[in-house]
Amino acid sequence: MPADSVNPRAAPPPSGAPAAPLGPMGLAAVRARFPALKRMQGNHSYVYLDGPGGTQVPQAVLDAMTGYLRHSNANHDGAFATSEESDALLARAHAAAADFLGAEPHEIVFGQNMTTLTFAVSRAIGRTLSAGDEIVVTRLDHDANIAPWLALEEERGAVVRWVEIRPDDCTLDMESLSRAIGRRTKVVAVGLASNAVGTVNPIERIVAMARAAGALTYVDAVHAAPHLAIDVASLGADFLVCSPYKFFGPHMGLLYGRGDLLDRLSAYKVRPASDTAPHKWETGTLPGEALAGLLGTFAYLEWLGEKYGGPSVGLAGSDTEAASNRDRLRAAIAVIRATEAILTRRALMALGDVPGLKLRGIVEADRLDERVPTFAFTMSGRTPREVATELGRQGVAVWDGDFYAWELVKALGLAGSGGLIRVGLVHYNTTVEIDRLVEVLLDIARTRSRESRLLRGPAERRPQDG
Ligand SMILES: Cc1ncc(COP(=O)(O)O)c(C=O)c1O
Repeated sequence: MPADSVNPRAAPPPSGAPAAPLGPMGLAAVRARFPALKRMQGNHSYVYLDGPGGTQVPQAVLDAMTGYLRHSNANHDGAFATSEESDALLARAHAAAADFLGAEPHEIVFGQNMTTLTFAVSRAIGRTLSAGDEIVVTRLDHDANIAPWLALEEERGAVVRWVEIRPDDCTLDMESLSRAIGRRTKVVAVGLASNAVGTVNPIERIVAMARAAGALTYVDAVHAAPHLAIDVASLGADFLVCSPYKFFGPHMGLLYGRGDLLDRLSAYKVRPASDTAPHKWETGTLPGEALAGLLGTFAYLEWLGEKYGGPSVGLAGSDTEAASNRDRLRAAIAVIRATEAILTRRALMALGDVPGLKLRGIVEADRLDERVPTFAFTMSGRTPREVATELGRQGVAVWDGDFYAWELVKALGLAGSGGLIRVGLVHYNTTVEIDRLVEVLLDIARTRSRESRLLRGPAERRPQDG
């Protein structure tokens, strides 16, 4: 399956001034839209730093989901009003998701989650492979973009080639990537951003390398979607997947597939189901309430883009009315990215002040373009679970472990010691929340150093221990 080399739908680059970050009033307006952010634990506001595992949802999502279940709850393709409304909802959801990714509505496939969609596509591509055909995967990826391809080794005799990482800054080793792609490469499976350490991969370059070798690209954009603008047309990726529950929406998965590929590949489906793309890929009954919720997510992002990001994509004043939904969505991501830059700088600085904390990944303040605000670290003398538990006790939600970035955590030599602690920021987080996180981490570090002094005992104490 050769990859085409041109994409006529490529979006023009954003025009206008760079987006401004949300100011205090904007941030307050954003936070007011997320009911979950009002949660308290003890005397403190609950601090959600668990975004990489799933973000909170705005009121628009809740309203859309309950509205659907109350008024239009029905299966598809019936000759009655609620079913017709459900069909119309599905069509609107395809169109809105296409706007979000810069695709066409028929190139959008909904499913249970990214993992399930990826297994569906890998199996379908597997049907076209011969023994010895090669698939490239990376050690920086979530296992959901590795295991579905590894399965084809066993089932189809495919050969999987690995791209190594550079442990110093947790970036992809591009020489290793270039060695891995060869004459027999059929698929390059790669992430846009790492869900463990926040690295943003040079995806345009990687897609171009795959394309030059005649290989398809399968891009995991799950971790990128809440942070970065995605334009499949200008990227030229053949497939790209993300999960709305990671970008302020309901639990479901979302796949972009190049139209001709979705048509041509043979999907695993029941016989009476539609033979046409995208529906032949949308097996079983779709979650109508989640599709409604997804429209609520896009409505929220369009509001954010129009109100706070307009000038960044050349929309201001009277232009705003003429703007397309795609413009508003791009403007939303521009304001999100600008807001996150402030959070990233603050987090890098504050985490750097915690004794015994070792941050992995890109830490340089002049390389912010190469990362999203996801930070992974270890703390001396405490397991990641112990640190996460103490933070959780204090109302700060963070993840610990490998986050299914299994290969990365193994490559860093941390698989046997509980992995990493992960802090994930999104645009609704605040610098006050970062300060609260660091306050608890400093407490943990101080307790640890008191304990080790006690353990060493008086005879072993150095003079400066006091
Ligand atoms: C980068 C990345 N890829 C894939 C997945 C799997 O997504 P899903 O839960 O939608 O299957 C995740 C989930 O954490 C992820 O972070």
